[in-house]
Amino acid sequence: MPTPSIDHDVADLGLAELGRQRIAWADANMPVLTSIRDRFAKERPLEGAVVAACLHVTTETANLLRTLKAGGAEVLACASNPLSTQDDVAASLVVDEGIPTFAVKGEDSERYYAHIDALLDRHPTLTMDDGCDLVSRIHQKRPDQVGEVVAGTEETTTGVIRLRAMQAEGALKYPIVAVNDADTKHMFDNRYGTGQSTLDGIIRATNVLLAGKRVVVAGYGYCGKGVASRARGHGAQVIVTEIDPLRGLEAVMDGFRVEPMEQAAAEGDIFITVTGNRDVLRTEHFELMQDGAIVANSGHFDIEIDLVALGQLSEGQRRAVRPMVEEFVVRGKRILVVAEGRLVNLSAAEGHPAAVMDMSFANQALAGEWVMANAATLERRVYDVPRNIDAEIARLKLDTMGVALDRLTPAQELYLSSWETGT
Ligand SMILES: NC(=O)c1ccc[n+]([C@@H]2O[C@H](COP(=O)([O-])OP(=O)(O)OC[C@H]3O[C@@H](n4cnc5c(N)ncnc54)[C@H](O)[C@@H]3O)[C@@H](O)[C@H]2O)c1
Repeated sequence: MPTPSIDHDVADLGLAELGRQRIAWADANMPVLTSIRDRFAKERPLEGAVVAACLHVTTETANLLRTLKAGGAEVLACASNPLSTQDDVAASLVVDEGIPTFAVKGEDSERYYAHIDALLDRHPTLTMDDGCDLVSRIHQKRPDQVGEVVAGTEETTTGVIRLRAMQAEGALKYPIVAVNDADTKHMFDNRYGTGQSTLDGIIRATNVLLAGKRVVVAGYGYCGKGVASRARGHGAQVIVTEIDPLRGLEAVMDGFRVEPMEQAAAEGDIFITVTGNRDVLRTEHFELMQDGAIVANSGHFDIEIDLVALGQLSEGQRRAVRPMVEEFVVRGKRILVVAEGRLVNLSAAEGHPAAVMDMSFANQALAGEWVMANAATLERRVYDVPRNIDAEIARLKLDTMGVALDRLTPAQELYLSSWETGT
């Protein structure tokens, strides 16, 4: 195959055919995004924009990038996590879509940031981020370029937390839409997508039987709710750990045992962190774990499990015992860490199913259109996805599922907007 002339750094262009097939498979399950792509192709709302997309390079992301391109944007892609890249997808983006792509599964930190820099070298005007590494890079290392960026979007909870911290310090220099905070994103992607795909990753990596196991889920946010309920559906006994009283109470009322980690650590067979926080599993917990405990993370960064501490505690070297599984030995007991503590659903499985990413990426595409159309009036802060976009995505998704809703009668509409009628 002749090497395409566009710039890229991917593992193997020979994988493009496989990538193309898998991207098409995902596309068949993304009808909302497809309908947006058809409209974008006619209206070209992103004409002139240079979009730097720092996202997990998966089949679903490829379909988002195709949509942005159809909308007239010049599109550039790199990974938002060193382990989440699907190398066949990266190859197809270069060969079939002509998108400069810089992403190799397993890249080290230096190459990861070199890839982000490769996008910034091409002077983007719109950033699409997942975890805020791209935005943080441009603000910290390339401040001279900040003025070239009109606006951005952010995909995940952790990224939005970082952006709000930047805004509070007055450090955020262009407007960004918090795609994560759209209801049609976090209520579905974080809950149903992370719930299913996290277990998928752990099962693919370890072949563990969940039925009868004690699964400890750290964090009962949207992702944690999904993971806990799916684990229960597999027949596991689920223990939840929390730091927030409301979320802890919710977990109790949903029928889960809630315990501090120092208690759960001794009881669990499988541990899954989804908090967006750091050191959720640390020395005092590793010391209590049973032989053969499986430890995985589905939160955005790999700091939820303190692997440095685990390495220091363990006798001898950590060693690979299966693809994606490393064994540490603490006080004679084996602790099995999946996917180096990185997002297990994207590292050891394929990430969320396309049907749920359909809504997340519909939000990305429409948020991108909205910021470009409204850039002149936006301030340097974090914006929510406009409610009408959220509602439209839910309506389109229901349409594609063949689900119809009731309509308000005129009397009901009047009743809901009035206050006079009471007991
Ligand atoms: N794996 C994926 O594909 C995927 C998808 C979406 C989001 N995420 C990431 O998952 C993480 C969680 O996202 P979310 O939307 O559920 O967030 P969330 O804010 O809704 O929930 C996080 C929960 O963790 C709790 N928590 C914080 N520190 C804790 C601690 N030390 N121990 C126990 N609980 C603690 C918080 O109280 C909160 O209830 C984020 O990092 C997010 O970026 C991953």
